[in-house]
Amino acid sequence: MGKLDGRVVIVTGGARGQGEQEARLFVAEGARVVVGDVLDEQGEALAKELGSESARYVHLDVGREADWAAAVAATKDAFGKLDGLVNNAGILRFGELAKTPLAEFQQIVQVNQVGVFLGIKTTAPEIAAAGGGSIVNTASYAGMTGMAYVGAYSATKHAVIGLTRVAALELAKRRIRVNAVCPGAIDTAMSNPAQLGSRGLDSLYRKLVPLGRVGRPEEVARLALFLTAEEDSSYITGQPFVIDGGWLAGASVL
Ligand SMILES: NC(=O)c1ccc[n+]([C@@H]2O[C@H](COP(=O)([O-])OP(=O)(O)OC[C@H]3O[C@@H](n4cnc5c(N)ncnc54)[C@H](O)[C@@H]3O)[C@@H](O)[C@H]2O)c1
Repeated sequence: MGKLDGRVVIVTGGARGQGEQEARLFVAEGARVVVGDVLDEQGEALAKELGSESARYVHLDVGREADWAAAVAATKDAFGKLDGLVNNAGILRFGELAKTPLAEFQQIVQVNQVGVFLGIKTTAPEIAAAGGGSIVNTASYAGMTGMAYVGAYSATKHAVIGLTRVAALELAKRRIRVNAVCPGAIDTAMSNPAQLGSRGLDSLYRKLVPLGRVGRPEEVARLALFLTAEEDSSYITGQPFVIDGGWLAGASVL
């Protein structure tokens, strides 16, 4: 018996990184998963590997409302219903706030914040029609506290937590739970610029993070599974869950 037997879940940004691990784990736990991304080649390959009984890929730019409508239609077409969403897609840009071009700020808002809003808006009626389910939004450590040089990103991740709380309040009566994961530093393409390599990243986070290492995308996937599985988290909604090796607990002087 899997924890998600019979469930149908869309995972955005599912072609690589944390979203990929979420798609893999959810399928292993019995779900049928629709992977949505803009990385078509990687997304198609993942869906093929997972098998057409369990997974499909759709091109889904989360900032485009028409793409969401098409993704939900494709999900119902393939698997008959929709009762879960992981709003995982996101982008990160580095730069001082006062020097950030407006277009760049707006692009980050469009993907990280508007994308989550459109995901909730488009899927909630379908999840309600299926009898209820779960939405997990990916915020960040940087959604709980400020972080220099990622101002636009941090603003959108704070907004994701706000959206999570409001959606939880509004959707509870339709039996939809809405929670957020707030990862710290996770070893994916986003946080691990090629020049650092895994070792460079490790030595940086050995100092910053009490648990002494960068996180793994599989670890975030297990938290997303916990929040999606009704048997594990049936009484939890509206909450941000930090998964950061203790980074947010306070300044470390050791
Ligand atoms: N890696 C970290 O340290 C870290 C920390 C905190 C939060 N996060 C968040 O976790 C989530 C997953 O990131 P990741 O670490 O796996 O990085 P990643 O860059 O490997 O994955 C992000 C995925 O989102 C997809 N994506 C980007 N723009 C998109 C769009 N417009 N529409 C659909 N898909 C789009 C990318 O193609 C990619 O597959 C993001 O929301 C990110 O902000 C990451």
